[in-house]
Amino acid sequence: MQALLQTLKPGSPEWVLARSLDPARLPSHIGVIMDGNGRWANSRSLPRAAGHKAGVEPVRMTVETCARLNVHSLTLYAFSVENWKRPRTEVETLWRLLRYYLRKEVAHLMQNNIRLRAIGRLDELSSEIRKELDAAIATTAGNSGLILNLAINYGGRTEIVDAVNRIIDEARRAGRLDDLKVDEDSLGNHLYTAGQPEPDLLIRTSGEMRISNFLLWQIAYAELYVTETYWPDFNRIALLEALKAYQKRDRRFGGIRQAPVPPAADEPVLEAVSLPTR
Ligand code: IPE
Ligand code: IPE
Ligand code: MG
Repeated sequence: MQALLQTLKPGSPEWVLARSLDPARLPSHIGVIMDGNGRWANSRSLPRAAGHKAGVEPVRMTVETCARLNVHSLTLYAFSVENWKRPRTEVETLWRLLRYYLRKEVAHLMQNNIRLRAIGRLDELSSEIRKELDAAIATTAGNSGLILNLAINYGGRTEIVDAVNRIIDEARRAGRLDDLKVDEDSLGNHLYTAGQPEPDLLIRTSGEMRISNFLLWQIAYAELYVTETYWPDFNRIALLEALKAYQKRDRRFGGIRQAPVPPAADEPVLEAVSLPTR
């Protein structure tokens, strides 16, 4: 928290908001569905590509802020397996921007001690993108701070299918296919995000109330936060507001509050309630 506050102007709205957060209750892992670039551009009579370009700055801000807040992992949804359905020119713009980001941002990732990773069907990417991506991942691999997962050619269902197939392959190679059984731990350990905490907070911009095939397994108990703000307008205040909202949530994981209030003397306890006999 201190690392972030030092970079903010004392008394500014960002500083006030950051100071109001409890540093002990920040999410370990934040997932972001960066949505609304096209509508942002449309509302300004600009081509969709301009929206994607304007979406680079909020990526930089989000990455840097999470690093300064000591968040363990940040997963950004950059390109889904379904996004290939878009016009070829738009898809090409997105890949061009990714290469630009990788080339330009490695120094920034190094300065902020960030480890870059990529999740998704990476073997389907072009060799140029793959080379750039592998280089950036290798350069930042020795860092020890925030893990930045870029979800590229990512689908939550494909991730689960890939995990199951890896489990089967490993069992076959070990000659243990006949008595193969999977459980939640073994499946989780074969996901692209194996070893990282599950997202505590999932942010989606642009007001859409859907998951769009993002981290399906891992978000089982994530707190969902949807803002109307389009991704290119997502600034530090918007991110801090999401964290503030997260800290107001009562996470029960199917249980009850941490310190349950004892029933009042006149409140019926379960034994005293007559239950239906059928
Ligand atoms: C998110 O913005 C970027 C990607 C999906 C790659 P969109 O391009 O989906 O923007 P809208 O939803 O059309 O406004
Ligand atoms: C989700 O956004 C994918 C990314 C942000 C990369 P979409 O814009 O593709 O999702 P839908 O089509 O509105 O569900
Ligand atoms: Mg969209």
